[in-house]
Amino acid sequence: MRSPKDFFAPLAVGAPEPIRQIPALPSRMIHFFDPSNEKMAAKVPQLAPKVDVLLGNLEDAVRADRKEAAREGLVAIAKATDFGATQLWTRVNSLDSPWVLDDLITLVTEIGDKLDVIMVPKVEGAQDIHYVDRLLAQLEARAGLTRPLLVHAILETASGVANVEEIAGASPRMQGISLGPADLAASRRMKTTRVGGGHPGYLVRTDPVGDDLTEGRTTYQQDLWHYTVARMVDACAMHGVLPYYGPFGDIRDVVACEDQFRNAFLLGCVGAWSLHPAQIDIAKRVFSPAPDEVAWARRVIAEMGDGTGAVMIDGKMQDDASVKQCRVVAELADALAA
Ligand code: GLV
Ligand code: MG
Repeated sequence: MRSPKDFFAPLAVGAPEPIRQIPALPSRMIHFFDPSNEKMAAKVPQLAPKVDVLLGNLEDAVRADRKEAAREGLVAIAKATDFGATQLWTRVNSLDSPWVLDDLITLVTEIGDKLDVIMVPKVEGAQDIHYVDRLLAQLEARAGLTRPLLVHAILETASGVANVEEIAGASPRMQGISLGPADLAASRRMKTTRVGGGHPGYLVRTDPVGDDLTEGRTTYQQDLWHYTVARMVDACAMHGVLPYYGPFGDIRDVVACEDQFRNAFLLGCVGAWSLHPAQIDIAKRVFSPAPDEVAWARRVIAEMGDGTGAVMIDGKMQDDASVKQCRVVAELADALAA
């Protein structure tokens, strides 16, 4: 039986940096839909050209008595739709649920050739990825698939965060990791009931002016997710997989959504989930580098010649390291334009 290592063999063990190349298709927004909802499912063909990734969700937000309908709905949609360049992903049920085995068997057998990535929720450690990896290898071999399915983990338990480095490197199938702020908040016993985003109570306050403790004090709201996103980005970079912000639940608050997505982008994330069409354009705008940033990056690269030494451009010192930073921006722009 072929293992995923065979598919990835030329780029695996001992390869120079980057450890291996994952498919660098754009995935700025992973747009969720419920395949058990007929109205939503009917819109999938029109939505496909507008998004980088369409994801048929089988897990949370799908009622227990609709799990089979969602699974069957996804099979029917995948068979009937030409997705063009848009990737098709799914989020299966969690590994401790009664549905996941049927999700994996049915989806790989029926539409394994249409699916690109399987998102696995509530991943606790490398053992969860190893389990999915072996099962997928068996199912792919039985279905005669020649292209390996990739795996995406949601970081949404305290132990998942504690083990994020081993999760990112658990299999050559690993495509990426998303922050799952709602489940993670519950797992950590945080006291926010929001899905992603900040909280007005999580703040820092400046010192008072003089003796009156109420005088001259200003408060700044802090980002609840900074530590987790930064840690996830490092784990992903170390293993050559892609980091994502997950869901932002307050659909009306497009300003805070854009802020959260942009912070994640600046920290290294490549995309976020979109739960509503209103979030598609936000993600596209945020996760594409701004034209003036790209122009600046190209100018620095051009003026630095072979990329070594130092030059002053508009009063700012540039050297080998800043060229590397600029290449990140320019290469992302090139990849998105391709
Ligand atoms: C996503 O699944 C989350 O729990 O935030
Ligand atoms: Mg969740």
